[in-house]
Amino acid sequence: MKTWICEICGDAYIGEGKPTSCPFCGARHAFIKEGNVAHPVVEVKEALSELTVKNLQETLQLELEANAIYLCMAGKTDSYEIMKMYKRLAKVEMEHAIICTKIMQIPMPETQTKECSDDDIANFQKTLQLEDHAANLYAEFAKTSVEKHVKIMFTALNQVETDHITLIKNYLQ
Ligand SMILES: [Fe+2]
Ligand SMILES: [Fe+2]
Repeated sequence: MKTWICEICGDAYIGEGKPTSCPFCGARHAFIKEGNVAHPVVEVKEALSELTVKNLQETLQLELEANAIYLCMAGKTDSYEIMKMYKRLAKVEMEHAIICTKIMQIPMPETQTKECSDDDIANFQKTLQLEDHAANLYAEFAKTSVEKHVKIMFTALNQVETDHITLIKNYLQ
């Protein structure tokens, strides 16, 4: 058994081998390192450019909104699997919000509540919209960020939201 550490959220995973993605923030395999060599981006305490702070604030709001919407969707479905899937997505998006607050070294804002549909298919469509918007935004933020750790963080988050799109598309088939 070993301790593996995610270089994005900084959380530890204990297991024989590293997981295919971080169980907490969803970062892909490549971002999970052996504990003694990991340098998580949330531990970098550097001054941030004005643009990065603006981008991180926008990301924080999107992630908190996604968390609230997914909790609503978890409460509306009749399927145990879909309820658990949305609860997991909500936790992953909250982890992304936490990553933003740690990089900016600010407290977590108030959590929100959001409305959603009673219909699973409508909720899947809404989820695809949200994830697609986030993935595109993070791809742009990854390109324009000047700080190396912020660039790495947005690259990882872009992949996580892209993986969420794949997950939801499987339900729509
Ligand atoms: Fe992680
Ligand atoms: Fe996210």
